[in-house]
This record gives sequence, structure tokens and C-alpha cells, in this order.
Amino acid sequence: MLSEAVAAAPSVHNAQPWTLVVRGHVAELHPRQVDLLDEHDPQGRDRAISFGAALTNLLVAVRHLGRLPHVDRAAAPESEPATAKITATREATPSGVDERRFAAIERRRSYRGAFAEQPVTDAERDTLRVAAGLGPDEMHWITGSTEASEVARSLAYAARVLHADAEYQRELTHWIVQQDATGDPTPGAGIPEKALGRQGLPAVGLVTGQTKLPDESLLASRIEHDSVLVLCSATDSTIDHVRIGEALQSAWLEATAGGLAVSVMTQPLRLEEMRKAVTEQLGLAGVPHAFLRFGRTA
Ligand SMILES: Cc1cc2nc3c(=O)[nH]c(=O)nc-3n(C[C@H](O)[C@H](O)[C@H](O)COP(=O)(O)O)c2cc1C
Repeated sequence: MLSEAVAAAPSVHNAQPWTLVVRGHVAELHPRQVDLLDEHDPQGRDRAISFGAALTNLLVAVRHLGRLPHVDRAAAPESEPATAKITATREATPSGVDERRFAAIERRRSYRGAFAEQPVTDAERDTLRVAAGLGPDEMHWITGSTEASEVARSLAYAARVLHADAEYQRELTHWIVQQDATGDPTPGAGIPEKALGRQGLPAVGLVTGQTKLPDESLLASRIEHDSVLVLCSATDSTIDHVRIGEALQSAWLEATAGGLAVSVMTQPLRLEEMRKAVTEQLGLAGVPHAFLRFGRTA
């Protein structure tokens, strides 16, 4: 059951850059090197965020089993996530939040379609912020037409750069796979071609050689309509990236439990100039790591 929960976590290109080893009351989540990610993720940011997301699922699953998890992190080089050793300690009745999020683990998916008109409410946004559990300076909702237009300009720029980067596109081709019979991604086996976004914001969230580059003003109006949360951190270490991954997945599970659809975009932020531009455009207090897009399925 623990391994199913971990395998259901989102990960960069569905690469699942971790290995889970379970022995009795102890589970160890190890980082795993993955080939063919160097163009997309040269510094390992997305692998560390993915590792954090898998760790969140593991902790939720241990609590669901009625045990309190204790986490020890091994020493690790700065460039990779520390192996997390989770010991299931004393018995503890799972809380309502644990059970709700556990039930969402299997149902959570990336939703790269257009959202329905009905917006996410302020109350829902507050719930998502609390679920992410980061400091107030580490979360920013893109708000108003000025922010939306500026971010749209940057995203359109990133889309053009990545679209034209032949090495990048060669690597990405490896990760786009034909859909299996169930229509769901096979854990660790890349992104089903049919799951890619065709238009609007999700299309610039994963630009392939086939992506039709978006109209900037249309993009701005989608950003303003969709609820887009930027996660950032004051420092930019692997520890921060893992922590952002834990927050991202907690918010994603809470959103799924509350009937919201989500997609995550980090691809544009893998360009250093994009991170700088978005930091300035949104007046962020730190480095942006991920855009989370929330809404209702159309
Ligand atoms: C760290 C991280 C980065 C991701 N970056 C992107 C992205 O830039 N664009 C995108 O469309 N999806 C992105 N995703 C979503 C993954 O492609 C997705 O989780 C994976 O293919 C598994 O599919 P699922 O989420 O439907 O289970 C990202 C996920 C994670 C955890």
C-alpha cells in the first residue's frame, strides 16, 4: 500500500526519480538518478520537487495506516535530496484531513484542459494556502491584469525559446509516450501524448515541438481567469526544493479532495532568465519554483 501511494505521486515528466524500500516499520525513500533529464532539469530542481511530492504521499499513507510517522533525513551532498527514513511509531487515529488526502492520492491527476467559467472561491484559495503550509512570502496568487499580462509575456518568451531548442526537444520526445489502454500514465513511464495541453496556459506549461505557440493576450486572459499560485522560497537549496514539493503535493491533494482540478508548470521556470523576470514582475520575496493552476473541469 505504501508503494502504491508513492507511485501515485506526480513527478517531472512522470520519471519518478525515487526508490522506496520498506522493511517492517521502516520505509526509506531514496533519490534515484534518471537519464535523459539533463536538458530539462540540469540542476535537479524538478527531481527534488518530485521527491518532496512522493514523500508527502508516503507520510499521508503511514498516517492512514494509523501510525505516527517519524522522519529522519540522512546526510546528503547539496545537489541531491537526502534519503528520508520514515519510522512508523506509535498508533494514532488518522485525522479527517489525513483520510481526505489519502483518498485523493489515487484520484489526483494533471488536468491540462481548459477550466470551466466558475472561478475558484476565496475560501477555496485560503484552504489551498493552508494546505501548502508555506510561509506567506512563499506563495503568491497571480492577481489582476497587469500581473497576468507580464507573466503572459514571459511565458510566451519561454515557450519560443524551448520550442526552438532542438536538444531540449530531442530529450522531451523521449518522455512523451502513447497512452496505455486505461488512459492513465504508467508510473515512471513518461507523459501520455493525449494528456498534453493543447491551448492556453497548459500548452505553454509543457512546450513540445508540436505546440502551437500561444497568442499573448489570450494567454493573459487565461492567467487572469485561472487561479494560478506561484510557490517560491527565499533560499534556493535542494532542501528548499524538496520542501516546495511537499507543499505542492499537499495543496494538490487538498484541491483534488475539494473537487478542483490542477496542473503544475515548472518547465518555463527552468530558464534562469524566466525565474528572474517572474520574481520582478510579481515582486516575489524569493526564487519561483512552480506555477500551480487550479480550477474546475469544463
Ligand atoms: C516537479 C514537477 C514538475 C512538473 N512540471 C510540469 C510542467 O512543467 N508541465 C506540465 O505540464 N506538467 C508538469 N508536471 C506534471 C507531470 O508531468 C505529471 O505529474 C506526470 O506526468 C504524472 O502525471 P499525473 O500528474 O497525471 O499523475 C510536473 C510535475 C512535477 C512533480
